[in-house]
Amino acid sequence: MAAVANRIIAAIDTADLGVAQGWARALHGDVGMLKLGLAFFLAQGPAGVRAMTGLPIFLDLKLHDIPNTVAGAVSAVLPLGVSMLTLHASGGSAMIAAARDAAEAGGPARPKLLAVTVLTSLSAEALAETGVGTTPQAQVLRLARLALAAGADGLVCSPLEVAMLRREIGPEPLLVVPGIRPADAPAGDQARTLTPRAAMAAGADWLVIGRPITEAPDPAGAARAIAAELTAQAA
Ligand code: C5P
Repeated sequence: MAAVANRIIAAIDTADLGVAQGWARALHGDVGMLKLGLAFFLAQGPAGVRAMTGLPIFLDLKLHDIPNTVAGAVSAVLPLGVSMLTLHASGGSAMIAAARDAAEAGGPARPKLLAVTVLTSLSAEALAETGVGTTPQAQVLRLARLALAAGADGLVCSPLEVAMLRREIGPEPLLVVPGIRPADAPAGDQARTLTPRAAMAAGADWLVIGRPITEAPDPAGAARAIAAELTAQAA
């Protein structure tokens, strides 16, 4: 991946190409990557991803299917040149290994595969309902180890998990962390948040930040303020 401005990934949570491109233009140079999700992809398709030029792309599709189908999906994504792609760790080792094999065909610039462990929207009760008898934290760690052993490059994890995961999995795997809120920003619907500095200190490699940037009156200024806070930490 080419040199990036910083470790901020702006979550471009819209299905509207014009809105997405407006944010991309505004944020160029002030964030390191853009995250496009399922709504954008279903509305705009691969052409929409190609139209988002200027910054590396994290395509958050959370793939989950039989290994052959997921491998086919990863192969289909390769021509888009995205930098990161998500898949569900609960799809199992064979699914993740198949995804990694397919991704390898993309060469050194292939997308990094990030595994999602337990959705943060699932409470302990909701997880039990799916037949998982352990705590969410134990399940996160179990799936994290499974995914990394099978070939995932990293994990998407909640602010509450990042320190535990960094301790347990070592320095190498990528940890990409949403649920980030600058100290003075409203939490919105995020129940458990960390500030950008705290998340980086806990071991995050990349921070996914949506509304504190995209809903700010000056999105680029908001991104610059967060980046300045991170740089101050490193100094
Ligand atoms: O606006 P906000 O900063 O809350 O956006 C966070 C982004 O990260 C959204 O795209 C959201 O879907 C995503 N995300 C999250 N929590 C997770 C996984 C992904 O907020 N556990």
